[in-house]
Amino acid sequence: MGEAQPRGLALPESAPPVDTNSVSTPTPKPRVSPVELRLRKAGIPIVCLTAYSAQMARTIDAAVDLILVGDSLGMVLYGFETTVPVTLEMMIRHGAAVARGARHACVILDLPFGTYQESPVQAYRNAARAIAESAVAGVKIEGGEIMAQTIRFLVERGIPVLGHIGLQPQTANTVTTGGFRAQGRSEEDQARILADARAVAAAGAFAVVIEGVTETLARTVTEAIEIPTIGIGASAHCDGQILVTDDAIGLFTEFKPRFVKRYAELAPQIAAAAAEYAEDVRARRFPGPEHTYGATKK
Ligand code: KIV
Repeated sequence: MGEAQPRGLALPESAPPVDTNSVSTPTPKPRVSPVELRLRKAGIPIVCLTAYSAQMARTIDAAVDLILVGDSLGMVLYGFETTVPVTLEMMIRHGAAVARGARHACVILDLPFGTYQESPVQAYRNAARAIAESAVAGVKIEGGEIMAQTIRFLVERGIPVLGHIGLQPQTANTVTTGGFRAQGRSEEDQARILADARAVAAAGAFAVVIEGVTETLARTVTEAIEIPTIGIGASAHCDGQILVTDDAIGLFTEFKPRFVKRYAELAPQIAAAAAEYAEDVRARRFPGPEHTYGATKK
């Protein structure tokens, strides 16, 4: 009788025989570091996407410079209404999976709500634990001027930090950070966010995510600071772009912000595949003889 193979190790039946004389192993692209990303200011735009699993990381790795294990996983994977219930343990678990899947891209992990705002020491403990346990290259933290001291504390102790200013989902319910709406429409807003950007850059962040701001403000901030800006809903006037992968490939369909471009529509394809499978099973068309182990090995 044919041996059942563990799913992950099975070769596709159509895999061609490997000729070890003619196959040259492609040289893997070297791993992108936070230092290299810092040097990309005003250069070729930095390409970033999110991933929460090893499989997604493997799939997008060659195309991108940075993979963010975003706390957006709370909404996208776990079905929470906000990112606030996400824990450090969840981030470490998913961060480790992504770090195992990505060979080339720089992997950065979001410190979730409540794990860094209390003090620089709290931030250091949690960032160091996250990096040690998940093998990511650094952490992202939300907050501008108010987080500058913490960013400096982490960077001086060897932890690469990606800043996050503009719309800050973890604290969007407070008045001071401006809520879940595009930021930078008033002069006051613009001054606050520009000051945030300057503070994060001066504190030593290698780059800063700028979320949900007007085109004018994105351009002003990008021109004003020496570290790369990575925009999400922040126009083309940034040194790089990031999207939540599940938004970009049409897997997360609860809502679609204006700034999202859909590069695929996977949710309807998956639903159609599931429906076809269900019909096959109910009609006993699946599994067929080719999916069935016989008494003798063929
Ligand atoms: O959590 C996340 O995925 C993010 C990106 C949207 C920037 O912070």
